[in-house]
Amino acid sequence: MLSHLPKLGVGLGFRPQFKSDLFLNRQQVDFLEIVAEHYLDAPPEKQEELELLAAHFPIIPHAINLSLGSAEGLDIDYLRKLAALIQQLNPPWWSEHICFTKAGGIDIGHLSPLPYTQEAVEVLCQNISEVRRWIDIPLILENITYMVQLPDAEMTEAQFLSEVLERSDCGLLLDITNLYTNAVNYGYDIQNFLQELPWERIVQLHFVGGHWHDGILIDSHSQSTPVEVWELMNQVLSCASVKGIVLERDENLPTFTELIGELQQAREIVRSHGKWDY
Ligand SMILES: [Fe+2]
Repeated sequence: MLSHLPKLGVGLGFRPQFKSDLFLNRQQVDFLEIVAEHYLDAPPEKQEELELLAAHFPIIPHAINLSLGSAEGLDIDYLRKLAALIQQLNPPWWSEHICFTKAGGIDIGHLSPLPYTQEAVEVLCQNISEVRRWIDIPLILENITYMVQLPDAEMTEAQFLSEVLERSDCGLLLDITNLYTNAVNYGYDIQNFLQELPWERIVQLHFVGGHWHDGILIDSHSQSTPVEVWELMNQVLSCASVKGIVLERDENLPTFTELIGELQQAREIVRSHGKWDY
């Protein structure tokens, strides 16, 4: 099923700050990713913004607060609203993270890591099958960064991600910056990690740069993409049939020309591997 998804190209995570520049440079951006939560219970001007974006670009909704890893189950009211938004946009796929953001009825306000256990796999799969009752558009799942590693792991992070993807039959949104950030902060081998992933499930990539603080790499989406992440993109694109690549810059926004330059650099890598029609 994943192999039939359309190729969207190289796109941008939409931020309202660059809306006018985006429309002035529309040919340079193949598609947009929107944060779904920005358009749930949205005032009319946000709804109009979404309609305008959707009239000019393919849109991929990216959800951040569904909390697929919550053992208590999903917030059905939230799920109903998310399903309505996704139905309205009718995208080829949509995405969420492998994490939890709610526990005991409290919104943590942060993408929190799960323990790499069979029990957590079961919880994720159960919640994902509930999501499928509401949303029948393909779901792809993203790997997150974390500042803590939970104890009592029964498998590696890569094995955990793979098991969730296989069991739930979801695609992978591989955030190569998150992968690089975790590898640097926890001293693990990226190549070992990549070897354990189901490459045929990679649908989309995220990339951006973070900043260093006291020897820790912070996933702040605030810097241009570092050379190590470009190399990682090159490696992944040499083997995986990726359908879309998104630059997700949030903080310290540079000129739009600089953003477009990064998209162009990603396209060059795609082209060097003879992918798509670039
Ligand atoms: Fe990401």
